[in-house]
Amino acid sequence: MADATETVLITGAASGIGRATAARLSQRMQVVIADRSIDAARELAAELAAKGRRALAVEVDVTQRASVGAMMETIQKAVGPVHALFSNAGINRRAPIENITEADWDLMMQTHVKGAFLCAQAVLPAMKTHGRGAILMMSSDFAVLGMPGAAAYASAKTAVYSLVKSLATAFAADGIRVNALGPGPIDTPLLRSGRSAEEWDRAHRRFQQTLPMGRLGRPEEIAAVADFLLSERSSYITGQIVHPNGGQLTW
Ligand code: NAI
Repeated sequence: MADATETVLITGAASGIGRATAARLSQRMQVVIADRSIDAARELAAELAAKGRRALAVEVDVTQRASVGAMMETIQKAVGPVHALFSNAGINRRAPIENITEADWDLMMQTHVKGAFLCAQAVLPAMKTHGRGAILMMSSDFAVLGMPGAAAYASAKTAVYSLVKSLATAFAADGIRVNALGPGPIDTPLLRSGRSAEEWDRAHRRFQQTLPMGRLGRPEEIAAVADFLLSERSSYITGQIVHPNGGQLTW
């Protein structure tokens, strides 16, 4: 995946980890910045274009098949087939298990699991034709780590990991690799969301005390791993979850 004529589709690319990955990958590929926040996506595309990179902003709600289909049509017309997918769009809702609403449970599953499934299903036919492709899905440390207050989010992230393993085995013979990223806490709007300034200060101190590296991760540190997993440098890796997490999870 080091061909400058190839295209990577990144969902949730207008912010945080997706944004950092779009900026990094735009140095070697055409990048599609797909997000439900289209204004922020367009701003990033313009920023990258000003640096001479090839970037296309497309609006999508990954929870809706029709929206994913419309996104694929726009991409096909503008730049042709997708060679690599980073299915990264995500949200979080923190609540103790007894207070998680049915709507929030459904939203977690729809955004993370259904969203990743719909996007993979949309790009796989062209990858099969091409005889090559790389898909990266965004899971989390929480896929394998119990976390109070995050049951719905963690369940969705475990399901993403499972989806990755099924797809990896199904498409390995087609030259398509499928992996998952399982980061620890990364300083992005998502990590800060739903917390007052005081709650954030408390959470930040707790992260610093409990993370073996003593600090949060930066989006650029995750982008570097995403770049690797979407490149030929990881040509013998498929079906894996890779944890850039400052040592949060060790066994
Ligand atoms: P972020 O909030 O900075 O970015 C998420 C992006 O996804 C936003 O631009 C948002 O508009 C977009 N998005 C959300 N729902 C969407 C939908 N239905 N359709 C299209 N776009 C949608 O968050 P961050 O932290 O960069 O998160 C990226 C991914 O990384 C998420 O899947 C998150 O669960 C995962 N993750 C984040 C960690 C962290 O500590 N920040 C740790 C482990 C995983």
